[in-house]
Amino acid sequence: MILPIYTYGQPVLRKVAEDITPDYPELATLIENMFETMDHADGVGLAAPQIGLPINLIVITLDPLKDEKPEYAGFNRAYINLHIVEVDDSHIESYEEGCLSLPGIHEPVKRPTRIHVTYLDPDFQPHDEWVDGFLARVMQHEYDHLEGKVFTDRLTPLRKQMVRSKLSSLLKGNFRCGYKVKMKK
Ligand code: NI
Repeated sequence: MILPIYTYGQPVLRKVAEDITPDYPELATLIENMFETMDHADGVGLAAPQIGLPINLIVITLDPLKDEKPEYAGFNRAYINLHIVEVDDSHIESYEEGCLSLPGIHEPVKRPTRIHVTYLDPDFQPHDEWVDGFLARVMQHEYDHLEGKVFTDRLTPLRKQMVRSKLSSLLKGNFRCGYKVKMKK
């Protein structure tokens, strides 16, 4: 089932997400719906707060990048209780990001290229690993959502100034996108 995506201005996007336990109701269905919602909106990542739930759950697909990176073919993963426990800040890269909750805004964001994360997979098996490349980029973007942040928070003061009018258009509902959204009333 495709769920509406909560857009900029929705209070849930500013909440810190809570870790969940295996008895979280209908978790498998929720994960399935999040994948469907992300795919329908042509996203590569979606965090639960973006569908209105302040819980620590994200989905990532890297399959759309398979033409450039064959190792990403079939990469569709859900991460539960994701935590960035360490960052290798020896390499910082700037890369253009967008967000399904901020349609129409694309801006370069600086982030470390390598992070150490812990998380549970959908079977609640624990993982502890270093990730890099595009996965590290998407994970950090989604992790921001779990911390109540959005990518425009990370722009330089100049770039922030430049997106100000676009952000206020989002708040007023003056935007178009090809998927169902839920705006702040
Ligand atoms: Ni986002």
